[in-house]
Parts: sequence; structure tokens; C-alpha cells
Amino acid sequence: MSTTILNHPLITHKLTQMRNKDTKTKDFKQNLDEIAGLMAYEVCRDLPMKKVEIETPICKTISHELLNDIVLVPILRAGLGLVNGINNLIPTAKVGFVGIYRDEKTLIPHEYFAKFPENLDTSVNLVLDPMLATGGSAIAAIDIIKKRGAKIIKLVCLVAAPEGVKAVEKAHPDVDIYLAALDEKLNEKGYIVPGLGDAGDRIFGTK
Ligand code: PRP
Ligand code: URA
Repeated sequence: MSTTILNHPLITHKLTQMRNKDTKTKDFKQNLDEIAGLMAYEVCRDLPMKKVEIETPICKTISHELLNDIVLVPILRAGLGLVNGINNLIPTAKVGFVGIYRDEKTLIPHEYFAKFPENLDTSVNLVLDPMLATGGSAIAAIDIIKKRGAKIIKLVCLVAAPEGVKAVEKAHPDVDIYLAALDEKLNEKGYIVPGLGDAGDRIFGTK
């Protein structure tokens, strides 16, 4: 469908703090939280609405509400870092989880956990992961939720490599992709250049 780069000055400024290797876990997470909220605002811009009849303190009127439930699907672990910021904006969102890690040598994704709310088929499903490198993890996560019936899917990532974007567009041409930045390339270890390092380790302080 489409790939959108949300290069808003506030998003780019916060992402620069995250890219800096000297930024510590607390500030890294806070910037990620704030970017997630800013991105959600744009990601949800074209969500379908339905008419509803309500009564204000003054009179009856026709107004509009979101048509679909929204399900957040963070790819564990690093995707968890995007949940809070989006949930603050969409408190009614349900959350499903897909655990995937990529083998450090082969870069092949491995699924280790999956738990979803009902009705993925009628929901807008936002797959969340800060990093889109080879695209293997995102493709696997989208495969998994499609098998559970998901039809409307948007992939929300902070930083992507061109290789990953191309791979997702090829495997899932029906999925809209939203990025805060499209970087230069992957290095020989499959890390995004310039990137921000290992997102999971920086969020959870594991290295
Ligand atoms: C990282 C990242 C993505 C994946 C991207 O996760 O959070 O899920 O790598 O790489 P890919 O596009 O080449 O698949 P990782 O496997 O390091 O697991 P973690 O989130 O538990 O650290
Ligand atoms: N996963 C990360 O956390 N960072 C990268 O640069 C690539 C994959």
C-alpha cells in the first residue's frame, strides 16, 4: 500500500537523542515513549469513522466515533517500548503480543510467544517494533496475525533500512508502513547504519 516517513521536527529531534550512544536507558525510553505518541497521531489519521447519535447537555446530535477496535501488537522485546506512548493516546486499544528474536548469526527470526485478543479480523492492527532491519521479524509477525484473521494491518517502526522496507513491501503489499526515519543500509552484522544500536538492549539495559 504505502510507506510513510514521519519526519516531523519533534520526532526527528527526539530520535537524535535516542541515536546518541551516550543517552542512558531512562532518557532513551522517555524519548521512545514520546515519539510513539507523536507517530500514533499520524498513523491514525485516516482511520475509518462511524456515525453515532448522542445527546450533549444541550441537545441530540449526530457525531462520529472510531469504526474499528484498535489492537497494538508489539514484537517482543523491543516493540514493548512503543506500547505506552500509543496507549496514552488510545486508552481503549487492546494489546496482543508476538515474541520473535532473530538469530544473531543467520538473522533468521524465531517465534517464541503469541497471545492475542479476539477479533483481529475486524480490528485495526498496529504491529510495533522500533527497528526494521532485514524485515524478517516484521514479516514473520505479520504472517502470524494474518493467520489469526487480521486484515487491516499497519507496521509502525522508528528506524528502517531500505532492505527491510523492500522486503516487507514485497511480502505484504497490503500493509501500510510508518517510519520515523529511513536510514542508509545494513552492516555486515545486520545492524542498521547509522541506526541506534540494539533497541532491546538499550530499552531494557541488558548490555
Ligand atoms: C530486533 C528488533 C526487531 C528485529 C529487527 O529484535 O527489535 O525485532 O531485531 O531485525 P530484522 O528486521 O532483521 O528481523 P531482536 O531479535 O534483537 O530481539 P529483542 O527485541 O528481544 O532484542
Ligand atoms: N535490531 C536492532 O535492535 N538494531 C538494529 O540495528 C537491527 C536490528
